[in-house]
Amino acid sequence: MTAIPDNWHLLHSAADIAQRVAQMGAQIRRDYAGKPLTLLVVLKGSFIFAADLCRAIDLPMHIEFMALRSYGDETTTSGVVQITLDMRFPVENTHVLIVEDIVDTGLTLDYLRQNLVLRRPASLRLVSLLHKPSRTVRPVTIDYLGFEVPDHFIIGYGLDNAGQCRNLPDIGYIAP
Ligand code: IMP
Repeated sequence: MTAIPDNWHLLHSAADIAQRVAQMGAQIRRDYAGKPLTLLVVLKGSFIFAADLCRAIDLPMHIEFMALRSYGDETTTSGVVQITLDMRFPVENTHVLIVEDIVDTGLTLDYLRQNLVLRRPASLRLVSLLHKPSRTVRPVTIDYLGFEVPDHFIIGYGLDNAGQCRNLPDIGYIAP
């Protein structure tokens, strides 16, 4: 059973999310038709989103994984980004679409983009399920966005609360 905190409030139900992911998948399919596509999944938070999104994009693709760390068990960023798992697949000349769960301060994505540009992909874009615009420190272009969310700690659908609640099917926030 998922340990949902008492002060958790629903933002997007599983049905809302499924509908939005299907729309995003259809748009990505149109944009990438005929191009060699690599979905780069940023672990851990985006694993559920990526699993649904890749099945909503009816195109041939590679799926690669990286893990980045910018948070411990706290709800505020440390500002320090570290690659804890890198991909071995050479992305040179492929169209890389980064799959992220949430852009909060933008520090993680800014760091990742700078790193990936050096690997010479044919193109580099970002799909993020969520964006917390009020927290931006480094502005990041989100090419495909699921939902904007308020400045609260978000959990569910892959996003964790101190390692828990990733398996919650809905997205919600913890009231301050
Ligand atoms: P950023 O570098 O501040 O943009 O944050 C990047 C990462 O922090 C995200 O990919 C998440 O893994 C994590 N994160 C940021 N905000 C939240 C949140 O509200 N809930 C859960 N994880 C978050």
